[in-house]
Amino acid sequence: NPPITLATLAKYKAAGEKFSCLTCYDASFAHAMKQAGIESILVGDSLGMVVQGHDSTLPVTVADIAYHTAAIKRSNPNALILADMPFLSYASVQDGIDGARTLMQAGANVVKVEGGSELAELIGVLGKAGVPVCAHLGLTPQLVNVFGGYKVQGKTAEAAEKLFADCQTLVAAGAAMLLLECVPATLAKKITASVPVPVIGIGAGVDTDGQVLVMHDMLGVYTRKPAKFVHNFLTDTANETHDIIGTFAAYHRAVKDKTFPSEAHSF
Ligand code: KIV
Ligand code: NA
Repeated sequence: NPPITLATLAKYKAAGEKFSCLTCYDASFAHAMKQAGIESILVGDSLGMVVQGHDSTLPVTVADIAYHTAAIKRSNPNALILADMPFLSYASVQDGIDGARTLMQAGANVVKVEGGSELAELIGVLGKAGVPVCAHLGLTPQLVNVFGGYKVQGKTAEAAEKLFADCQTLVAAGAAMLLLECVPATLAKKITASVPVPVIGIGAGVDTDGQVLVMHDMLGVYTRKPAKFVHNFLTDTANETHDIIGTFAAYHRAVKDKTFPSEAHSF
């Protein structure tokens, strides 16, 4: 596989070509994703839930993400590797710099932070220092104790306007990518068209530039009721997949040809 970089994704965006991303936490699955042509890997703090067994992402540390990022990098160095900055690792700009240093040195190509316009300063500082930042907006699981659960965001006109404005602010500050989680499809489409940087969606409709799912979810390995946007590609007989590599490849094709997500997976 040729290396996938932010420049690759910029070309894709200009050409209207979609890209696939999955979360991944270890070398064996990262290798399977390489064989399946998955273009981007997210070392998500969802590992706190799916790997560590916590009931939120809050207990995850920078050292945890760095450990898993290094395993992915050894196995699949040509995928674009995004690494999550965990809870309270970027509450100050200096903490954010320290965490980003650790994750970039572990092999990340991009770091991801959750939030809105309040992240502008941090994103500007990191961007100028050579750390591409993906801003994760919409349902941001690190705020579960503020939201009081995991719910669709940007549903009222006012909330949609704020989300749109936050995206503009963060791109102007230097964000290299955006990730929209559980956002109405029409709003995600409008945001994607309005910014020059690649936008990844999860529960954000089919019109974002890329799609991401938690790997365990798309393999049907869950410990709780899956969200509406999840699709089990392993048991989807339409794909005629017989193994995990084939399942990743089926997801990749569905993203590329825009058959995933369908309206049934969207808000
Ligand atoms: O940690 C994660 O898996 C994520 C995705 C759900 C976007 O941030
Ligand atoms: Na995350």
